[in-house]
Amino acid sequence: MIKEILVYPNPILRQKSEDVKDFDENLHRLLDDMNDTMMNRGGVGLAAVQIGILQNVLIINIPIDDCENIENEDGLQLKENLIEAINPKITHKDGTQVFNEGCLSIPGVYEEISRAKHVVVEYFNRFGEKQTIEAEDFLAVAWQHEMEHLTGHVFIENLSFMKRKKFEKEWKKEQKEKKKKSSRL
Ligand code: CO
Repeated sequence: MIKEILVYPNPILRQKSEDVKDFDENLHRLLDDMNDTMMNRGGVGLAAVQIGILQNVLIINIPIDDCENIENEDGLQLKENLIEAINPKITHKDGTQVFNEGCLSIPGVYEEISRAKHVVVEYFNRFGEKQTIEAEDFLAVAWQHEMEHLTGHVFIENLSFMKRKKFEKEWKKEQKEKKKKSSRL
């Protein structure tokens, strides 16, 4: 089921998520809802907190965009590439890379963010089986971006003071205009 995505600066996005204890049908329903919601919005990753569930759960599905025959300009996301991660922990990080990131909770905003180039993550799948993954480049960016959500943070917090100030000013203005428009309906 497609859920509503919380939009910055919703205070729930600032809360820390907690570890999942039961790998039961509630968790499976949450993961399915998260995938429906992410695919509906054309996202490549989603943390449970973004639909208001404060649990250490995230999903990632990196599109295969290097194939020219694919009509979808955002690239094709295959179900077999879906990563479902419960209680993830980054056990190793190295290198740096700068990537132009966006977030479904801050729609329309893209900013260059510096993160580790390579990460190793330990997590559990939906059945409670322990997994280890090595990720680099865009996949490593996605892991770090989604894990930040679980600690109550969003990517624009990594901006420099001046860039953050500029973002906040523009975002407030945009949200105000949106409210004005919707109250006229
Ligand atoms: Co995000």
